[in-house]
Amino acid sequence: MNDLFKKLISHAKEYGFIFPSSEIYDGLSAVYDYGPNGVELKNNIRKYWWDSMVLLHENIVGVDSAIFMHPEIWKASGHVGAFNDPLIDNKTSQKRYRADVLVEEYLEKINQKIEKELSKAAKRFGDEFDEKQFRETNPRVLANQQKKDEIHKRFVTALENNDLKDLKQIILDCEIADPVSGSREWTDVRQFNLMFETKLGSLSEDANSIYLRPETAQGIFVNFLNVQKSSRMKLPFGIAQTGKAFRNEIVARQFIFRMREFEQMEMQFFVKPGEELKWFKSWKEKRMKWHQSLLVDHSKLRYHDHDKLAHYANAATDIEFNYPIGFKEVEGIHSRTDFDLSQHQKFSGKKLQYFDTEANKSYVPYVIETSIGLDRMFLAVISNAYSEEKAPNADGKLEDRLIMKIPPALAPVKIAVLPLVKKDGLPEKARELIKTLQYDHNCQYDEKDSIGRRYRRQDAIGTPYCITLDHQTMTDNTVTVRDRDSMKQDRVLIPELPGFVSEKLSMRKLFEKL
Ligand code: GAP
Repeated sequence: MNDLFKKLISHAKEYGFIFPSSEIYDGLSAVYDYGPNGVELKNNIRKYWWDSMVLLHENIVGVDSAIFMHPEIWKASGHVGAFNDPLIDNKTSQKRYRADVLVEEYLEKINQKIEKELSKAAKRFGDEFDEKQFRETNPRVLANQQKKDEIHKRFVTALENNDLKDLKQIILDCEIADPVSGSREWTDVRQFNLMFETKLGSLSEDANSIYLRPETAQGIFVNFLNVQKSSRMKLPFGIAQTGKAFRNEIVARQFIFRMREFEQMEMQFFVKPGEELKWFKSWKEKRMKWHQSLLVDHSKLRYHDHDKLAHYANAATDIEFNYPIGFKEVEGIHSRTDFDLSQHQKFSGKKLQYFDTEANKSYVPYVIETSIGLDRMFLAVISNAYSEEKAPNADGKLEDRLIMKIPPALAPVKIAVLPLVKKDGLPEKARELIKTLQYDHNCQYDEKDSIGRRYRRQDAIGTPYCITLDHQTMTDNTVTVRDRDSMKQDRVLIPELPGFVSEKLSMRKLFEKL
């Protein structure tokens, strides 16, 4: 873990964003709890997603399906048979790894060697440097590239053929060692199903195993006709859902990036067969715009188109965010053909077809899926927001200022109301002011410590506005409004406050960018 990531994790704990789960019992691996500021930020991100889907599209509606579902659903969806990761144990350290990740990390190391040669050469030759020629002629780069290509080819074939023996052999041939113990004593590779299994009391003895859902999507597919009929939806239309999903991840040590209990925000968009690639392109662009609306620096986002498609997909891309741990997937967009609905038709024996009145025929619609992890989005927002600056204190001396530049409409606390002193009627007036603002905004009252320290506390949680009441307030009914980012202070009449702050705090500004 790099320094920035470590600092972010400790900041998230200190300021009530994220706590390790069950901490007083030494924690539970890859499970986290959201604190008072975390839950507000998470709710706001969810609302921004939900409203940009359901509020802004007349042809998208929502559902909230149960976490427990009939076990046959997971056979139909392919999760019982194929939702596996290949795992391997190290006999010396007794640590468990994902075999594919060990090989990927090894390939990345070779890649880094090549990059190092390239950057050394670029420095040496300056403007004269011809990267293409260097790659084609330098013996060290050529040897590493050849090695990388050979292993990569063998690795992809092993994964495609589910050849676990060869996957282990690659690890042995590459002399990959356990990062903890350095040992090369590996067990065989085994497939490990990621679904959590539990028992449902009321089912008969032989069918009482059910699963905690590993994705929210299937709750949408099995309700396709219920929603279409009850809401009289016509193609193309979408169904959105947010909710918890559970995966027994083998390797989960990247804070809230990979958890065993997490939340998804998914939307399945049902279209006429043959129109799916047009809609895939459209959703790919729309979703990128949504991410961009929250960022000043758009270079922190990129697409990663999939070369190797899942058997049910005919197009797929990820939107990746540049986290402190590098570019990683925050959202997936898939053209899932008619796979899911057809499978549920087959397994349930019930028709899941749409009657197209114009074409006068019934068919199974095709589906475009947009699927984003709420926790990963949360991590993207806080990583992007975390910033260390220098700012002048009351005496004009520069001091450290830690500020969370969260988009104002998503900030956990929108307005801090701060009486300059704890007397002369200022606290009472401050509480009166909160009463007028709290219907629209999450406000926080704070009277402890110097005003400078109170500003720093609010900066550290990303509060866009601090309103200070002073003695002048009692004579002319004005307050100072301090802007988090510019630290500029304006004197504003109390009756004009709601108008002054609301533009920046409302989600409308974000919606207008979509
Ligand atoms: N219905 C499609 C689906 O579930 P996925 O790529 O497996 O696709 C979608 O998951 C999103 O869910 C990912 O882009 C990621 O943001 C989030 N996600 C997946 N596994 C996760 C985990 N273990 N912890 C946190 N977020 C996860």
